[in-house]
Amino acid sequence: MLKLLITRPIAQPVLDQARARFDVTLGEAPLSEEEASSALTAYDAILPTLGDAFTAAAFDRAGTPRTRILGNFGVGYNHIDVAAAAAAGVVVTNTPDVLTDATADIGWTLILAAARRAGEGERLVRAGQWGGFGPQSLLGTHVTGKVLGVVGMGRIGQAVARRGHHGFGMDVIYFNRSEKDAGLPARQVDTLRDLMVQADFVVVTVPGGARTTKLIDADALAAMKPGGIFVNISRGEVVDEVALIDALERGAIAGAGLDVYEAEPHVPERLRALENCVLLPHLGSATVETRQAMGQMALDNIISFAEGRDPRQRVN
Ligand code: GLV
Repeated sequence: MLKLLITRPIAQPVLDQARARFDVTLGEAPLSEEEASSALTAYDAILPTLGDAFTAAAFDRAGTPRTRILGNFGVGYNHIDVAAAAAAGVVVTNTPDVLTDATADIGWTLILAAARRAGEGERLVRAGQWGGFGPQSLLGTHVTGKVLGVVGMGRIGQAVARRGHHGFGMDVIYFNRSEKDAGLPARQVDTLRDLMVQADFVVVTVPGGARTTKLIDADALAAMKPGGIFVNISRGEVVDEVALIDALERGAIAGAGLDVYEAEPHVPERLRALENCVLLPHLGSATVETRQAMGQMALDNIISFAEGRDPRQRVN
């Protein structure tokens, strides 16, 4: 029986299927670079996820790995050096599509929560400090009819845009390398700056990786409208977190909603202290249905590979 490492607990029905076909070891915590390297020499297949450090150095240290496939649980795979994997003869797959709607919904949770100051309001009620309805208290920003700016018009960006257009009558603009037909009136802008200047709500959905690291820097944030709201549901590294904190502390933008952070699970104290920022613990794909579908897709890719077929969601 092939040895399969599943690095974190996943949905029970998927785990049961895996156990019926493979000799499964179940991990508990993210793999360090050293642990990732040892795993590459000990297992035929690995089902890793975010936080497992399959870096170039991990592949280097593993030499000629025993592992033939990393069936990643997650659409984003910036924790895996796919070029190093390919050079070591390791196939990498991911789990696109099944998490698109759940992740777009979290984007909208953050847009609405930041715009309507839901975090502040909830904290007030829980602290027993709410003084009752007040015509001028906790006023937020209207969402309907405003300009939605999507940075990265891939599957998730398009799903965010659809919700904005159909649900909130927003004008959608986007910044993306290529033109995209999202099936709705959405205008592509030439530069990131154009988007930051024009949008009332900026939502970042680009994939993580070297090309997008610190794409949203101090200059990009400085271009935003003073009433603008910034939302990140992609990867923390895409945003200069210190520059964002500075902008929020100075009130240069009205608010932010974040699902991802530069050094997860570390969330800087300065960020946690900000009232005008809604903070979620990387919940983008966290629904029962979606997480089960992701596990199934990751396992199906590994099964296909083990049976000699090309896995459908191969990325390298
Ligand atoms: C979650 O962030 C994922 O990449 O699937």
